[in-house]
Amino acid sequence: MTRLAGKTALITGAARGIGLEFARAYAAEGARVALGDIDIARARDAAADIGDAAIAVEMDVTRQDSIDSAVAQVVEAFDGLDILINNAAIFTASPTVEITRADYDRVFAINVSGTLFTLQAAARQMIAQGRGGRIINMASQAGRRGEPLVAVYCASKAAVISLTQSAGLDLIRHGINVNAIAPGVVDGEHWDGVDAFFAKHEGKAPGQKKAEVGAAVPHGRMGRASDLTGMAIFLATDEADYIVAQTFGVDGGNWMS
Ligand SMILES: NC(=O)c1ccc[n+]([C@@H]2O[C@H](COP(=O)([O-])OP(=O)(O)OC[C@H]3O[C@@H](n4cnc5c(N)ncnc54)[C@H](O)[C@@H]3O)[C@@H](O)[C@H]2O)c1
Repeated sequence: MTRLAGKTALITGAARGIGLEFARAYAAEGARVALGDIDIARARDAAADIGDAAIAVEMDVTRQDSIDSAVAQVVEAFDGLDILINNAAIFTASPTVEITRADYDRVFAINVSGTLFTLQAAARQMIAQGRGGRIINMASQAGRRGEPLVAVYCASKAAVISLTQSAGLDLIRHGINVNAIAPGVVDGEHWDGVDAFFAKHEGKAPGQKKAEVGAAVPHGRMGRASDLTGMAIFLATDEADYIVAQTFGVDGGNWMS
């Protein structure tokens, strides 16, 4: 299908996982897509695998010069920017009494400041182009409620939901729709790390935490990155024009709010 024909997209954190699946899905829908990632070697391999519709752009969302350079490279390569998916993020977890300032600063620099200032750079470009745009932020069910060992990551994703609301209300007057997707538990390298953390802190066997969270999902299994592509495509299409400042759970029924 070609629901995104003629559109150009920047997806941050697209060298692997959900971002990479989004890049593949967008290209399959006719978009030209830039895979922005701090891991440029992996992003280049991924872009080459997708083909001519894809480019890789080196990008560290914690650095303003890197954000600006990445947006400029996309605009130069594709002659404009229509869609941003703010997907880059890191996960950390620790007991509350062991949270360090360094850990907090790193998570918020990537997950919150990175989201805000990449959104800002993209919005400035979209406003200058004068043809609106779409911005999709990756939130999480973790942003809807707390978890005992995950305070910093949960707070960062709550901030992403809040930024989506405020920026969404502000930017719609420019024809820019800002919305967010809140996944539940999506298997992949990200969750390999989560599983290892809980193995250490809760004495679980490797793979046990994944099995437990998968069984607890009403749908009956962990999510796959491909479970999220439908929403990511829909939010970028014209049919989603009236959707503003919302966060959509795509989580197999895991969380309602
Ligand atoms: N996997 C899940 O269960 C899950 C659940 C809820 C929300 N999410 C969210 O979905 C998004 C994608 O998750 P994922 O599982 O694919 O994660 P992932 O860890 O597999 O991929 C994250 C990507 O971001 C990149 N990245 C890290 N720091 C960066 C930086 N400073 N600048 C640019 N790129 C950087 C990494 O190199 C990596 O390619 C994230 O926002 C995550 O918080 C994931």
